[in-house]
Amino acid sequence: MQEIRVELTKNPKEKPQDQSKLGFGNYYTDHMFLMNYDEGQGWHDPRIVPYGPIALDPAAMCLHYGQEVFEGLKAYRTADGRILLFRPDRNMARLNVSNDRLCIPPIDEEFAIEAIKKLVLVDKDWIPTEEGTSLYIRPYIFAVDAHVGVHPAHHLIFAIILSPVGAYYPEGLNPVKIYVEDEYVRAVKGGMGFTKTGGNYAASLKAQAEAEKKGYTQVLWLDGVERKYIEEVGTMNVFFVIDDEVITPELRGSILSGVTRMSCIDILRSWGMKVSERRLSIQEVAKAAEEGRLKEAFGSGTAAVISPIGELRWGDDVMVINDGKIGEISAKLYDNLTGIQWGKLPDEFGWTVEVK
Ligand code: COI
Repeated sequence: MQEIRVELTKNPKEKPQDQSKLGFGNYYTDHMFLMNYDEGQGWHDPRIVPYGPIALDPAAMCLHYGQEVFEGLKAYRTADGRILLFRPDRNMARLNVSNDRLCIPPIDEEFAIEAIKKLVLVDKDWIPTEEGTSLYIRPYIFAVDAHVGVHPAHHLIFAIILSPVGAYYPEGLNPVKIYVEDEYVRAVKGGMGFTKTGGNYAASLKAQAEAEKKGYTQVLWLDGVERKYIEEVGTMNVFFVIDDEVITPELRGSILSGVTRMSCIDILRSWGMKVSERRLSIQEVAKAAEEGRLKEAFGSGTAAVISPIGELRWGDDVMVINDGKIGEISAKLYDNLTGIQWGKLPDEFGWTVEVK
């Protein structure tokens, strides 16, 4: 394994004092990880250096054609002072899936996990300790060739930055209001919807902005072909509880294979619940709501954790779910998942990895 060089900062920043006001993505730690790829040389020069601007040629390809991928995972501080990561192998495997789709050379997944651990240890004092907080880890890769021509890059940077965070949505665990998007689409099968690349999020901004203006937190995407089948919500996968079935859209190439999504499925099944990964139309959800069979809906994601949905608006149809309150399954899932992540509950699935 390549040696990671460490250069510590001489100017440590002041850490945010009030952990209840961290929000999401507002603060960054003292250091970052960088590594370069140059054709002929492969990935090389892994290093942890003081956090700061990265100089790019104005022609750098990532700025023009969006050849970029990223991941999101978290480090948690347990009550007895340990530091845990949650399923980092899944994130790094997905990073390589995204890499493949975007013609980015694969990274060594085990090495990348070592890099994450080393960086987290260097900045361990930044891991917040209050209930509901964590250190968000953002690995990302971008093309830096100075070349205004469309082709896969020969030169790239792999970076990792860290951010102490609280809840992603200001609502916290209170149910969010979601707008069913029937004009814009996010992705189609054959496109990049299953990858974590900036372009998917760029495609979502306009719909998101318009939904916010109407008082909604995020949009629920429908499939790009028939505008009928439910895909995912802006920054999370989505689950619906209809009668006694928990349903989440199946992975058909246009939605993200969320690590939280797969963990929720495993936890729910371990409780003996019926979980289906299948096509689910918005019409089926609306009908279930009308008949009083739509019991709960919630989103899942690393940033969002479990986010209950209290209202869904589809055209003129406003579906209030569980009286706009957090449902029993969503609450229990949140407690279980975060219980494992924060080391409060036994990790029966073997998902956590200690950083030491
Ligand atoms: C995550 O859940 O980690 C994400 O990457 C979503 C995000 C765009 C904040």
